[in-house]
Amino acid sequence: MTADEQKKQVGDAAVAYVKDGMKVGLGTGSTAAWFVKAVAEQIKAGMKLTLVSTSIQTTQLAESLGLVIKDINDVGMLDLCVDGADEVGPGLALIKGGGAALLREKLIWEQANSCIVIADAAKHVATLGKFALPIEVEPFAWKGTVNRISDVLIEFDITMMPKARKKGDDYWITDGGNLIFDVACGAIHEPAGLASALKSLTGVVDHGLFLDLADVALIGGPDGVKVLH
Ligand code: 5RP
Repeated sequence: MTADEQKKQVGDAAVAYVKDGMKVGLGTGSTAAWFVKAVAEQIKAGMKLTLVSTSIQTTQLAESLGLVIKDINDVGMLDLCVDGADEVGPGLALIKGGGAALLREKLIWEQANSCIVIADAAKHVATLGKFALPIEVEPFAWKGTVNRISDVLIEFDITMMPKARKKGDDYWITDGGNLIFDVACGAIHEPAGLASALKSLTGVVDHGLFLDLADVALIGGPDGVKVLH
């Protein structure tokens, strides 16, 4: 079974958690895209949902499928959010942000009563950190912010320096107008400590560690979808 088949498998499986009348957050990325397509099928079949999106990319996909995306400020608390991840570790701790949407994703996740992460089997890991951790940084005075990030990383025995994400020769700019720096951590032994130390730095808008946010993980694979709590 290919990774893409597994992504479709979990995107389709997540639709079982969606009930008529719900307010639902749509995640970002190639796995979440399968969920968006499955939701579009449900709506075509008559289900009524209020939808919000975690990125411009997802909004464009949803609208191309005829879905209506609402402003999160007009919707209030969501019933459910379904999104992909780059790594799913112990305790459903996640690395997200491979698609540079981590800030809006985290805002939507934190405004949802229940969050489901969907991923192919390769993303289920024993220790977070093989996937480079994305950190979203305010562009003003970014060099000083990156120096302070590097100091924090050293405190956590992470010696790799943050690397600016680029699109060709240009810096990658997020939907919120910020920069993304990726850190090849290797292994993150203290995710909670690292998460709060990074978050405390002026200039760090947010980071891709999603801790204590996912309620359920649906992991794809040849033997069917594994449900983790
Ligand atoms: C975007 C994300 C994505 O959910 C994550 O990168 C997984 O993407 P994909 O499903 O394409 O592998 O966090 O910011």
